[in-house]
Amino acid sequence: MLAYGQPCLDASDADAVADAVRTGWLAAGPTVHRFEAALGAHLGGVGCVSVSSGTAALHTAYAAVGLRPGDEVVTTPLTFVATAATAALHCARVVFADVEEATGNLDPAAVAAAVTTRTRVVTAVDYAGHPAEYGQLRKVAAEAGAVLVDDAAHAIGSTYRGVPVGALADLTTFSFYPTKNLTTGEGGAVTGTDPDLLDRVRRFASHGMVRDPQRLREPDEGGWHQEVHSFGLNYRLSDVLCGLGLNQLARLPQFTARRAQLAARYGQLLADLPGLRLPEQRPWVDPVWHLYPVRVRDGRRREVYDRMRAAGIGVQVNYLPVYRHPVFADLGYRRGLCPTAEAYYAEELSLPIHPELSDADQDRVIDALRTILR
Ligand SMILES: Cc1ncc(COP(=O)(O)O)c(C=O)c1O
Repeated sequence: MLAYGQPCLDASDADAVADAVRTGWLAAGPTVHRFEAALGAHLGGVGCVSVSSGTAALHTAYAAVGLRPGDEVVTTPLTFVATAATAALHCARVVFADVEEATGNLDPAAVAAAVTTRTRVVTAVDYAGHPAEYGQLRKVAAEAGAVLVDDAAHAIGSTYRGVPVGALADLTTFSFYPTKNLTTGEGGAVTGTDPDLLDRVRRFASHGMVRDPQRLREPDEGGWHQEVHSFGLNYRLSDVLCGLGLNQLARLPQFTARRAQLAARYGQLLADLPGLRLPEQRPWVDPVWHLYPVRVRDGRRREVYDRMRAAGIGVQVNYLPVYRHPVFADLGYRRGLCPTAEAYYAEELSLPIHPELSDADQDRVIDALRTILR
């Protein structure tokens, strides 16, 4: 089966992992610091905390904001469930706002209509790698007194009006799962510029532990002493995986460029195919094409999915609107809540796109689509 996404690994990645092991530090060591510094610098000079997954990054970002039971988090339904589930795990109420028809990204106007005095966080997702409308989202979130979070699991390497994703929201979360543009196997990161928020991010991801002598409640206890001031978890990323991350970061521009070539090629070679709508790109963004989400018209998405799979082409559907998962349905969320997201989902099909995909592989995808839709 031709994968819709897969990592791009070579001997330099294996060497980087071996180098990390040779330091003798497997956790909380120098390679973690190097990776965080390099990633923060790459994203425009932001602060960076590495964590063990994109889900951990979201859970940690919400903890850092201080989400409490009854607080509201406004987000998009067109995302992986973790964007909303991690807020629900803090006992926050998830409020789904609809998406823009063109990009599938959170619609700032829908967010403005959804915010209340209880809104603590607005979480955008850069669907498929295309940055959301941060100019307007920043304004809406600020007017509501809410923190803006960017779930950028798809978007490492993208820019919005020349600013890298990672520096657009108050806190940005990344995933380094193997299908992502940069991988550490499992892994993730949180970035931001507010030192206080970042300090709370780092603490939550490491048991809530405080070591700074200035902040200890009992500073005279002894040299071994450390204290927990708020509950946290162990979400740290190991040195071994940060070694892989460092090397993948050096290769990121190459991955992004190949994805862009493939997207441009799909754009040219599928343009005349009836029954298919190609993804739109706003002129002020430079997206990394994590997904290539086409829309199949005339109610044929299911048929096209089944026939592509039967032909050995690993297409995917991203995403079932989050509130249709039974865990949200059981809480009373109903179909019809976000009609644009539902219409998008009904037609969406993600075609294979990743740096290892050859032109010949891509031609196979295109030929199979042509056979089905012609
Ligand atoms: C939009 C989005 N958010 C969050 C996540 C969770 O990331 P992870 O799988 O690293 O926990 C994913 C993973 O696919 C995702 O696509």
